[in-house]
Amino acid sequence: MNDGGSRGRSRPAQAAEAGPGRIRLVGRLVDEAATRDLAALLAEVAGPGMTLLLEGPVGAGKSAFARAFITHLRRLHGQPPEDVPSPTYTIVQTYGAGPLEIWHADLYRLCSPDELMELGLDEAFGTAVVLIEWPERLGVHAPDGAVTLRLDPQGESTRAVTLTLPAALAGCLAPRLAAFGLERNDEGDEA
Ligand SMILES: Nc1ncnc2c1ncn2[C@@H]1O[C@H](COP(=O)(O)OP(=O)(O)OP(=O)(O)O)[C@@H](O)[C@H]1O
Ligand SMILES: [Mg+2]
Repeated sequence: MNDGGSRGRSRPAQAAEAGPGRIRLVGRLVDEAATRDLAALLAEVAGPGMTLLLEGPVGAGKSAFARAFITHLRRLHGQPPEDVPSPTYTIVQTYGAGPLEIWHADLYRLCSPDELMELGLDEAFGTAVVLIEWPERLGVHAPDGAVTLRLDPQGESTRAVTLTLPAALAGCLAPRLAAFGLERNDEGDEA
């Protein structure tokens, strides 16, 4: 739901509501370091059952974001950097971060939704921290309450970013996301 007066405009993050219980924030990541910083911020609030849906075209930076997120989350739990390859061919790579299990999936090559079950992704949604590239392949299996991060290239290193997240989480992160330059945008909401 939005307030009817904000469509098509951007406002600071702290007053946000977009869609039922969800907030949409938009901004720009001027270089890969900015993408890594945003990944680190979200890793700090990661817990079991958190899913990040990473949208955007080939080369947008989904794997780069996931790599930074996983590395930071492991560091928070005192674990050294580990190679984080793109799961383009393996479809799923898993990692540990203290008590947390992390799943990094790239569904580009998924042939049918049945494969999701074979992979065990449905169970991972409830227990692990899950990052998914090409989440459009999930169809109806996309979990409620997921955080969606969309990256769209704007030149060599700048990325337009759209972050959609549950209102409660947005409330916790609002000051830091605003400092990050992300602003509310309800444009295109159905509610
Ligand atoms: N601001 C930025 N954020 C993320 N990546 C960036 C940025 N600027 C430049 N890059 C570069 O863009 C490339 C992104 O590649 P990456 O493999 O992460 O894309 P992807 O979205 O995962 O693509 P695919 O759909 O093929 O999996 C990397 O070479 C990275 O260094
Ligand atoms: Mg990738």
